[in-house]
Amino acid sequence: MVMYSTEHFYDGLQALEREDSPLDRRERLKAMEKPLLFWYAARARSLPWRDKPLPYRVWISEIMLQQTRVEAVKPYFERFMEAFPTIRALAEAEDDYLMKLWEGLGYYNRARNLKKAARILTDTYGGCLPASFEELIRLPGIGSYTAGAIASIAFNIPTPAVDGNVLRVISRVLGDREDIRKASVKGRMEMELKEIMPKDKASQYNQGLIEIGALVCIPGGEPKCGECPLYSVCLTGRNGWWKEIPYKSPQKKRRIEERTVFIIEYQDKVAIHKRPPSGLLAALYELPNVEGRPLAGEVPFVLGIKKGQVESVTELPASRHVFSHVEWHMTGYRVVLRPPEDKNARTVFEGKAEPGCDSFGENVGEGLLGWLFVTREELAGTYPLPNAFNPYTKLIG
Ligand code: ADE
Ligand code: SF4
Repeated sequence: MVMYSTEHFYDGLQALEREDSPLDRRERLKAMEKPLLFWYAARARSLPWRDKPLPYRVWISEIMLQQTRVEAVKPYFERFMEAFPTIRALAEAEDDYLMKLWEGLGYYNRARNLKKAARILTDTYGGCLPASFEELIRLPGIGSYTAGAIASIAFNIPTPAVDGNVLRVISRVLGDREDIRKASVKGRMEMELKEIMPKDKASQYNQGLIEIGALVCIPGGEPKCGECPLYSVCLTGRNGWWKEIPYKSPQKKRRIEERTVFIIEYQDKVAIHKRPPSGLLAALYELPNVEGRPLAGEVPFVLGIKKGQVESVTELPASRHVFSHVEWHMTGYRVVLRPPEDKNARTVFEGKAEPGCDSFGENVGEGLLGWLFVTREELAGTYPLPNAFNPYTKLIG
């Protein structure tokens, strides 16, 4: 007697699995195709980059989507496209402006790499993206996932696009308990998908897998197997293994850094500082901050400001920010400054704020070197302050 794995809406669309003759890996993957494409045609969300999948738009959206949810990306995507309508425009972007547009998305190297790649594309590809996986993957910031996504979604070239979503869905379908953190697991999945994916429907196929991972086979909670087009070929759905699959080995512990952040006010302005050109949050502006936990009385010394110029020091609440490899455990102080007593002293606090310009002279301690005093409007409109500082920037008022 033939036993079907389950009664399911999508069963009529695919090779059914017999209990006495289970599918092998390749057959199981191949059996996803029909229900996947059927489901995608009916259920795919309308998204700005999906509805008008020009190569440049697909590229920018995929980079933004790498660490950020779809709903959060939408407004950034539209603003970015308005600011830089072409690859050539992006290649000529002013760095602070680019970072300002990226502010809030985090992982700022993504934006830096976009500009680097745009320059290469302008210089050597006539301002276009190449219709080739091998050439795409050579560009800064483009790895195998993004190259596959652009090649398939924009050019319909049959290359897989395996991101975290797809790793989850495919591991679950196959009942594969290998560690998805391993590059070899992703590499094998890419090879297997490349062999079986439809040659003429790469765009819908890859987006279908991504979409199932986003809407049905969701991360961080129970997948909606009851609505899943892959249910009847999925070993995890059938066996209830979703808590165990995908398996991801624990990541290394992040280093914890204690930092103290300062809101330094002088008249109607606030101090900011440009970070060094490399390392964490490279070349972005920040509220002045130091490692460690100085006491309120130590603040003038720590900042290198004469005690007489400090009107008040008040404590600010603690907060935390998690980066990929480090966590900041922050506290803060609001420091209000007053003019120097010697009316003839060249006051360092009145330096005109020009992006990238050090506005301080010699009559302050060296802690002040490199600070800019900016108005609240300039802070909101011109200087990209990373999210890590949000709990403090919102206290500036
Ligand atoms: N996440 C990553 N890429 C995506 C895409 N193209 N559509 C929707 N969500 C995504
Ligand atoms: Fe994920 Fe369940 Fe669908 Fe399998 S059946 S792919 S576990 S949602």
